[in-house]
Amino acid sequence: MNKYILSTIAWVESIAKREILKQWWTIFKVKDRIIEFEWTDDVMIRVNLWSRVWNKVYKILTESENIDDFDKLYNLINNINLKNYFKKKFPLSIKVKSINSSLFSVPTIQKITTKAIINNLTNNSGERVKFDSNLEKFEIMILLINNKARILLNTSWDSLHKRGYRIETWDAPIKENLAAALVLLSWWKFNERFYDLFCGSWTIVIEAAMIAKNIAPGLKRKFAFNELWIINRDIYDKELIIAENKIFNGTYDIFASDIDSNILDIAKSNAKNAGVLDNIKFMNIDFTIYIKKKLKWTLVSNPPYWYRLNVDDLDYLYKNINKLLKENKNLKWWIITSYFLWFNKIIKLSNFKRRKLYNWWEKTYFYKKIN
Ligand SMILES: C[S@@+](CC[C@H](N)C(=O)[O-])C[C@H]1O[C@@H](n2cnc3c(N)ncnc32)[C@H](O)[C@@H]1O
Repeated sequence: MNKYILSTIAWVESIAKREILKQWWTIFKVKDRIIEFEWTDDVMIRVNLWSRVWNKVYKILTESENIDDFDKLYNLINNINLKNYFKKKFPLSIKVKSINSSLFSVPTIQKITTKAIINNLTNNSGERVKFDSNLEKFEIMILLINNKARILLNTSWDSLHKRGYRIETWDAPIKENLAAALVLLSWWKFNERFYDLFCGSWTIVIEAAMIAKNIAPGLKRKFAFNELWIINRDIYDKELIIAENKIFNGTYDIFASDIDSNILDIAKSNAKNAGVLDNIKFMNIDFTIYIKKKLKWTLVSNPPYWYRLNVDDLDYLYKNINKLLKENKNLKWWIITSYFLWFNKIIKLSNFKRRKLYNWWEKTYFYKKIN
């Protein structure tokens, strides 16, 4: 058994937990964007492969209480069997998070960690290690909370929101793991229609289609665990085959529209890479034409809230969104926006609930209609 830590985007821990329970039926510790679990390495592979809303999966290399001076930190790191993990001389990226602990100087912690790792890898011989700058950096995280130190190895590499299908981007795309969280929070039933009337580069509808088809989000990307230490490649290949066999080829009614078609080619190639191009219908249209149509089922959208629009335009746009929502009583809708001041002025708070979320570093609210 090994110990792992998952980091999630803020405020979606409940969704992350729901996803874990669905896959593994095991309860983990869930707190402040962190989920802890203990399992074998094959489960770590599966967690990386199936992560829809998480950011990174870290393996806890070692941990200890009372790490309140640099000698203790050095010894803790120097005693890890690091050669088990490094096949090649990867350059290091040492990240530090210190909360309420005696050691808090980030540069000094990084210096001590580097020294301890080099001495560890060279059997304390004093030999110089030349890291191979042609290789990608990998991350070691030093987490200090109330003097409890945890030395973590990032098994994912890039954050898991990077699925590998988005080759090109456009202005203001929503993060893939946030888009997946929105779809999951909407409780969309796959046999009903799903709309995004401000679809941009299609992130929300691509994630919706991947969820409906049960496509593992990590199928198209690479992971640190494949490069860093010798995991049994057969286990990974087996997990890939299991994931491929879990894909449903049902038909889904997923509808995307946008006033701008300049990004259509990018959106289509993203959807094709994700394996869902045939599942999405697109129209190049202004959303206001839907005000008088009787829309039903589920709408999840991320309308503009700042870029390229001035306040008057936004004012007009959100008034029309309000009309659309009022006219379409049978529509279950969820809107994510950071334009909350104005939004609050137009829509009566008593008619909806909101949940705070972060899109990249921007605070946004996800509004939900209350029936
Ligand atoms: C914040 S972006 C959506 C980004 C998208 N979620 C993504 O991940 O790429 C808002 C989108 O609303 C579109 N838009 C602006 N005004 C519109 C209108 N009147 N009707 C339809 N779409 C509109 C813009 O073209 C833009 O693509």
